Amino acid sequence: MAVRVALAGKGGTGKTTTAALLVRFLVESGRTPVLAVDADPNANLNELLGLEVETTLGEIKNELRTSVPESMARGDFMEMRVHEALVEAEGYDLLVMGQPEGPGCYCAAHSFLSQALQKLERSYAYMVVDNEAGMEHLSRLNMTEIDHLLVVSDASSRGVLTAARIAALVKPLQLQVSHKWLLVNRAPEEIPEALDKHVREVCAREDLKLLGYLPESERVFELEINQKPLWELSAEDPFLRKAYGLFEKLMATS
Ligand SMILES: Nc1ncnc2c1ncn2[C@@H]1O[C@H](COP(=O)(O)OP(=O)(O)OP(=O)(O)O)[C@@H](O)[C@H]1O
Ligand SMILES: [Mg+2]
Repeated sequence: MAVRVALAGKGGTGKTTTAALLVRFLVESGRTPVLAVDADPNANLNELLGLEVETTLGEIKNELRTSVPESMARGDFMEMRVHEALVEAEGYDLLVMGQPEGPGCYCAAHSFLSQALQKLERSYAYMVVDNEAGMEHLSRLNMTEIDHLLVVSDASSRGVLTAARIAALVKPLQLQVSHKWLLVNRAPEEIPEALDKHVREVCAREDLKLLGYLPESERVFELEINQKPLWELSAEDPFLRKAYGLFEKLMATS
């Protein structure tokens, strides 16, 4: 099985940015092949990776209910369509979950999808899952064993408490997480002592490991407003170097 890293955190904290940077890091450090999964209904990981998406797994689940050729077993159909939905890039592939399903029972579709994904995952060294805040997709798809849960927070004391609450959702969702990490994003260059103290207290109390702090990046902002992928950050960019340093730390923990 691939090493699974799942992103979580309140809206707008930087989950997708971190997921895209992590995919780039894994590819550039030769930890390939990587499977990137966009499990946010408002999918935009593909944009930060500079990829076009044609089919989402949500659409395939609908097809499974309506348009499976009679001669084909539904499990085989699902597997075939999941392969077709893969967006292939150098060193990594991307799958997009897409919009949640409409009314009706999708239990069978979920179960076929979950089986197809598990089979697919065997071909990858790493899997990076960008989530909506709640991580429901993970439990719905039976992806309950996670190696690293990376919760992204803004640099505020309330934000850090929210991140801790999100991390605690692993219990009711019955996820088995080996390592729970906190990443504080858009932090000032000089970390205020009061913030650092609070962050460390919350981490100790909530069984979170502090991955570290990432600063606000003018370059990330520029790329975002020009709708450019994060691959365009220069390899020497200090923000990128900082992020890579933190990812090395995460990878060193197994
Ligand atoms: N360190 C940073 N420096 C500058 N801009 C950043 C940084 N981190 C994130 N951003 C910007 O903040 C916005 C939100 O980031 P991102 O989309 O990664 O968050 P998210 O948690 O995935 O949001 P959502 O909950 O909507 O999926 C984006 O415009 C992104 O470019
Ligand atoms: Mg996002």
